[in-house]
Amino acid sequence: MSRFTGKTIIVTGAGSGIGRQTVHRFLAEGGNVVAVSRTEGRLREALAGLPDDRLHLVAGDAGDPAVAGRAVAAAVDRFGGLDVLVNNVGNALRGDVAAVDPEEWADLLRTNVTSAYLFARAALPELALRRGSIVQVSSVQGDRAEYGWVAYNTSKGAIESMTRSMALDHAAEGVRVNAVAPGLVDTPRTAGAGPEALAPIVARTPLGRAGTPAEIAGVIAFLAGDDASFVTGAVVPVDGGRAASLGSVRPADV
Ligand SMILES: NC(=O)c1ccc[n+]([C@@H]2O[C@H](COP(=O)([O-])OP(=O)(O)OC[C@H]3O[C@@H](n4cnc5c(N)ncnc54)[C@H](OP(=O)(O)O)[C@@H]3O)[C@@H](O)[C@H]2O)c1
Repeated sequence: MSRFTGKTIIVTGAGSGIGRQTVHRFLAEGGNVVAVSRTEGRLREALAGLPDDRLHLVAGDAGDPAVAGRAVAAAVDRFGGLDVLVNNVGNALRGDVAAVDPEEWADLLRTNVTSAYLFARAALPELALRRGSIVQVSSVQGDRAEYGWVAYNTSKGAIESMTRSMALDHAAEGVRVNAVAPGLVDTPRTAGAGPEALAPIVARTPLGRAGTPAEIAGVIAFLAGDDASFVTGAVVPVDGGRAASLGSVRPADV
């Protein structure tokens, strides 16, 4: 039997990159998946061809409480309950405080932070029934800052603090809460930045390359599963060693 057979997992931001690959991973390991993403057409296209008897799509803005409610209701009505919530959705926003306008700031925090709160709030009663778990997607920028990314850095710092807070508050219900903190990952978003923009980041990554969405999904699945039954409140770097260094460039790239 596969690791997630009979289990149901909600994944937000499922229409691209890490979220899409996480859906693949849980389906491949036998799970039922409720996949949430903003743009219906892109979500359908990204997950076309997957086993639709175990996949339910929810199109909508993850920062909308009604969408969180719809996703949890789908897990319960269609698959009988909920075991895992993966709060993956997150957008990027460059700029310092002067450059980011109030609307952009509010929008970014709503997508990157409020969505995680809304989905956790909707999911926790169901997760408690099954002693389930939450896995959040932070970033290397969660506990260290990158220049010119104040809103994104702030949002990922909040996700890590929320991870620890929820781990404490819901341990008595048997719900574990952890996070992954990816470094540079090769997704449609980062591909859009172009190789020249990414080269300095690769040069500061000891393993000397970007990660793949599958490498992040594998650690998400580990944290969600029974092998991590004594792990809660952890933020696991999945970054090719980037957070282990002081930010120096690899000798090979000097
Ligand atoms: N890629 C990296 O290098 C990297 C590094 C560290 C951390 N992360 C984190 O990993 C997570 C996933 O990143 P990624 O690179 O895989 O992202 P991505 O390729 O940009 O995909 C993001 C997905 O989220 C959806 N989405 C965006 N805003 C939404 C909203 N308000 N409501 C519902 N869905 C929404 C997008 O849908 P649409 O198609 O409608 O836009 C898209 O399917 C994020 O939390 C990100 O911060 C990524």
